[in-house]
Amino acid sequence: MVLPMMDLVSILVFATAGFGLFLMLLNRRLFLIPDCRLKRPVMVLSFVVITGGSALLGFVLPSRPCFFIPVGVLCLIVVGEVRRVFIRRKCAGSSPVDAKPHQLDITRPFTTNDLACYRYQVSFHDWRGSAFRIVLLSDFHVDGSFAPELYRHVFSVAEQSCPDLVFMVGDFITKLESLPALSELLRPIGKLGTFAVLGNHDYWTDAEKVGAVVSDCGIRLLTNESVGIEIAGAAVRLTGTDYPWKRGEKTIAASLPGELHLVLSHTPDNIYRISKSGADCVFSGHCHAGQIRLPFAGSIVVPSVYGRRFDHGHFIVNGTHLFVAGGIGTTVLPVRIYCRPDIFIIDISGQPEKESPDNN
Ligand SMILES: [Fe+2]
Repeated sequence: MVLPMMDLVSILVFATAGFGLFLMLLNRRLFLIPDCRLKRPVMVLSFVVITGGSALLGFVLPSRPCFFIPVGVLCLIVVGEVRRVFIRRKCAGSSPVDAKPHQLDITRPFTTNDLACYRYQVSFHDWRGSAFRIVLLSDFHVDGSFAPELYRHVFSVAEQSCPDLVFMVGDFITKLESLPALSELLRPIGKLGTFAVLGNHDYWTDAEKVGAVVSDCGIRLLTNESVGIEIAGAAVRLTGTDYPWKRGEKTIAASLPGELHLVLSHTPDNIYRISKSGADCVFSGHCHAGQIRLPFAGSIVVPSVYGRRFDHGHFIVNGTHLFVAGGIGTTVLPVRIYCRPDIFIIDISGQPEKESPDNN
């Protein structure tokens, strides 16, 4: 049976609109379902029902009068993408002052083990402290998929950058059997402290056991709590939030005048809520920068209620700086394509009090 050209076009347009809807659902809802046996079948079923069902509609519905349905859906998707690009540009932070490697190598799509290092600089004129360095590590996903050498290399690069503070922002493991391997890997490497929050996968396995291993390794876990530290005599407040994985504690401590308020949040989805507290910086992971990216187009699938808006990099939202690292490990597929695992090195500076001539 040969389908007339009009029917083929109709099926294609309906199927494309259906696939667009499936991707939106996958980003914003399906990926956020807790890991369970049914998660993958639900994803596959959603794909078949939404995309296949749309293609079937394109076949059975009369083409011309019903064309407005998929075209309308595609127009809405395009409007959503334009809005995303507009908001992302409005929230764009600075580019890294240094990136290793400097450019994407299009001849090497498989980047699962090729660690990248991005260095950023931010200054806060209202804070009276001197410069210090933060290293941001996220999404180890220790699950036996990667050789321990990858993680040892990550820690070695992080340590060689001489960080004052190290933030580990969750998703330490994917499987409970990996706790002994995690225990061998973790160590505190920040000169003034190493702090952590848990991620969704830690909660979906066993938050209590993962938290115990992290704490036993000398890393300070900030589960919906704040601590104050001093850096060269200036006040810094560190807050961790595990929302929404640890439900019921949405609010975080409000920033106090004169202190630098740094917040660790596994998911960047908390950024709008955190920015209302007056926080200066938020450090996140969770998105894996998409894990599979297309050259020039970027990420395709990102587990966020904001889709691809905050998938990777530096943003400024309502005056709060947001850093979203691409992380180290992987989920679903043990592979990264055009998407290197990475660590962020962030140099923060303030406006130190000038020495009064009377003091000399
Ligand atoms: Fe993750």
